[in-house]
Amino acid sequence: MVIGVDRYAVFGNPIGQSKSPLIHRWFAEQTAQDIQYDAILAPVDGFADSWRDFVVAGGRGGNVTVPFKETAFAMAQLVSERAQQAGAVNTLYIDSSGQLCGDNTDGLGLVADLQRLGASLEGAIVLVLGAGGASRGVIGPLLAAGVKRVHIANRTAEKAMTVASLFNNQVSASGYTDIPMESWGLIINATSSGLSQQRPDIAIRHLQSCQMAYDLMYGKEPTAFLSWCQQHKVPACADGIGMLVAQAAESFYIWRGIKPDMKPVLEKLILLVRP
Ligand code: ATR
Repeated sequence: MVIGVDRYAVFGNPIGQSKSPLIHRWFAEQTAQDIQYDAILAPVDGFADSWRDFVVAGGRGGNVTVPFKETAFAMAQLVSERAQQAGAVNTLYIDSSGQLCGDNTDGLGLVADLQRLGASLEGAIVLVLGAGGASRGVIGPLLAAGVKRVHIANRTAEKAMTVASLFNNQVSASGYTDIPMESWGLIINATSSGLSQQRPDIAIRHLQSCQMAYDLMYGKEPTAFLSWCQQHKVPACADGIGMLVAQAAESFYIWRGIKPDMKPVLEKLILLVRP
């Protein structure tokens, strides 16, 4: 039997950039929880072994980031409906009967951050750009939050159609050139275009009714997509730093049964990332 502080960790490759250890230490301080949270670099083909070693050493739960979210999904014996819809797991834990459980808090994190920012989701029609894992993970939680319709647009149209087919008829799909001319109040960039300082190549006309633009990526500077939206006078533009903190808060809640207040932690993180 392993005795000592409850251990948690984030697994990824690379992992050095991860802010999760810092965020969870701040949550632990705030909620007076005695836990340890580390960053673990797992070999690209060795996540299952890393996880097993961690559990043997007393690990209670973990976050999973690139490139292991799909492997974690395959490993979990029980997965939540959210994780099922996303096809990916970002939160692992062992339940009281010893089963490995997988959940996905990314979409909940996005919804919590949009709510913090004052976005009205009830009845909204939302344009989601991108059809990779990030996009697939947020659509179910957006619909669950009361969004009326989601249109997925992707550079490669077929991938958008495939993701849309996983959902009901509230979700439609197209390439960038055939986005329907509708009043998109909220536009979410779920592509990885920001990594190469690019933006999804959609027409300016789609910004006409946009009240909020949100990019799942974040960095020191605004992403190319958010700069473009600001330039075209979208009233509110936000990046994914709040989603990062909010998804972590949901994982912490799953493990510890206490929901930390994301706001003070987000303020500290913003000061650190954009001093
Ligand atoms: P993730 O897990 O971050 O979603 P992914 O599954 O590799 O990563 O998906 C990347 C998404 O970003 C895809 O929708 C991709 O578009 P394609 O399917 O057409 O490849 C999109 N993407 C990446 N770079 C892009 C760019 N420069 N412009 C537009 N879309 C881009």
